[in-house]
Amino acid sequence: MSEPTARVARIDSDEPTGRVPRVDSDGDPTLIVRRPIIDMQQLWKTYRPGSLDVHALRGVTLTVDEGEFVAIMGPSGSGKSTLMHIMGCLDIPTRGSYKLDGEDVSKLSENSLARIRNREIGFVFQQYNLLARLTAWRNVELPLLYARVPGAERRRRALAALDQVGLSARAEHRPTQLSGGQQQRVALARALVTDPALLLADEPTGNLDTAAAAEILGLLQELHRAGRTVVLITHEPEVAAVADRTLRIRDGQLEPAEIAA
Ligand SMILES: Nc1ncnc2c1ncn2[C@@H]1O[C@H](COP(=O)(O)OP(=O)(O)OP(=O)(O)O)[C@@H](O)[C@H]1O
Ligand SMILES: [Mg+2]
Repeated sequence: MSEPTARVARIDSDEPTGRVPRVDSDGDPTLIVRRPIIDMQQLWKTYRPGSLDVHALRGVTLTVDEGEFVAIMGPSGSGKSTLMHIMGCLDIPTRGSYKLDGEDVSKLSENSLARIRNREIGFVFQQYNLLARLTAWRNVELPLLYARVPGAERRRRALAALDQVGLSARAEHRPTQLSGGQQQRVALARALVTDPALLLADEPTGNLDTAAAAEILGLLQELHRAGRTVVLITHEPEVAAVADRTLRIRDGQLEPAEIAA
């Protein structure tokens, strides 16, 4: 198992799409072909709560390359959470294809989805979703526990992930002994501890004051600069502004004009 650090040392986002320079550990820049982490083609999601169909997604086509930082904005009911659930392998589309890191995940069983979720996705939600009876590092190690990583390695990697978000000194604190911003940083460490291909954040600053929100956004930017692929869902333009590109969704469809930040 690798360390919970970035897969690509550094990415220069000024490079033309398709090729990104990579700086190896010895400092030599080498060109690598950029690969899509998210590849969605003509994705539909139709709910049938009663006799009438609700088309929550209507033909979404979207690719996000490794190392990109993308924000998704849209009004309430436009399909953001539906899209995020499918992106994060919490649900499958009704129609269309979804390749996550090269693997077709659009028709998998619940068990296979759960396995891929654990391995490939780090989630951060508006509510931090920490377990109150566990200390910070015990919360962070949970995804590794599900992945059956041995105890000593779990602890080492959990502490490393807490260090990444600047919370080494709070490893033994329980959630109630932490501020909201600190709890969200623990949640971020938990999302990173498996070294996921994709970090998905759904309104991660929604419950935070301005200073704590800026800290979380700063960490996301830092992770992005280190090569992490990040998708951020938000209502707030100033939050979306930290991403490289903003996609807008309306009535289950992506708006054609992408606005570069
Ligand atoms: N489980 C479900 N059953 C039926 N309809 C659903 C279900 N989940 C979502 N919908 C409908 O699908 C559409 C998109 O919902 P979604 O939750 O994706 O919107 P959203 O953009 O996340 O909104 P918000 O900003 O309010 O969170 C809405 O019209 C919603 O009513
Ligand atoms: Mg939502």
